[in-house]
Amino acid sequence: MDNRGRVIAEVAGKQRLAEDIFCLKLTLPKAAAIRPGQFFNLYLEDGAHLLPRPISVCEAKDRELVLVYRRVGFGTNAFSKLGSGDHLPVLGPLGNGYPLEELDVDAGVLCVGGGLGIPPMLHLTRTLREAGRTVETVLGFRDESFLLAEFEAAGAPLYTASDTGRIGEKGTVVDVIRSRSLQPEVILACGPLPMLAALKGFAEEKGIRLYVSLEERMACGLGACLACVCETVGVDEHSRVHNRRVCKDGPVFDAAEVVL
Ligand code: FES
Repeated sequence: MDNRGRVIAEVAGKQRLAEDIFCLKLTLPKAAAIRPGQFFNLYLEDGAHLLPRPISVCEAKDRELVLVYRRVGFGTNAFSKLGSGDHLPVLGPLGNGYPLEELDVDAGVLCVGGGLGIPPMLHLTRTLREAGRTVETVLGFRDESFLLAEFEAAGAPLYTASDTGRIGEKGTVVDVIRSRSLQPEVILACGPLPMLAALKGFAEEKGIRLYVSLEERMACGLGACLACVCETVGVDEHSRVHNRRVCKDGPVFDAAEVVL
């Protein structure tokens, strides 16, 4: 571990899941202790690109950490070229994760993921299943599926939607929840802001508790750049303003506390 807390992880494998979506498997001690909803900062070793890439955890068990990301720029393109045996500086786990211990043990939980918010729902769904919780999962894709076999293996009832109708129902995750008459007591979600905003409207209408992960907004991932602040309903007791840092105070928030 270096003086910034980073460790050098070994790449155990890499897989292309869809056009620009990649899965990176890293060997990491104590991966089993990672909470669903946490994330890792990944660093390039060239020194010229200092900002880390915050990537959410897709799976974590034993000594294996699985990260899924979309190839969108220089950094993620470099990660997509890594192979087994390569090494990568990482920092984490970071962020709060979903507040699973605060949920009523008998509450029916619905995990909802959209786009790049789908991978963290796998760790979440499996963790809830293994804890004996009642859990269902709804996933919203654009028009390309990924990780479906892994979600099937997680063993929770699975419902899917896509913009084109090529995967599951044509429509949004809220359309699926309504058409299937799903009636959870708690919704745990991660995905694009319009999806989270629509879920918040649905949850308010039905009186359902909703927790959202706002990972999409992050940059440095370390609490330093303030690029990630989200607007909050209440005033932060330290800064006295209506915002909080997604990377330090989140990325998971009670939807009632944030403006979406
Ligand atoms: Fe920089 Fe949160 S991403 S402060």
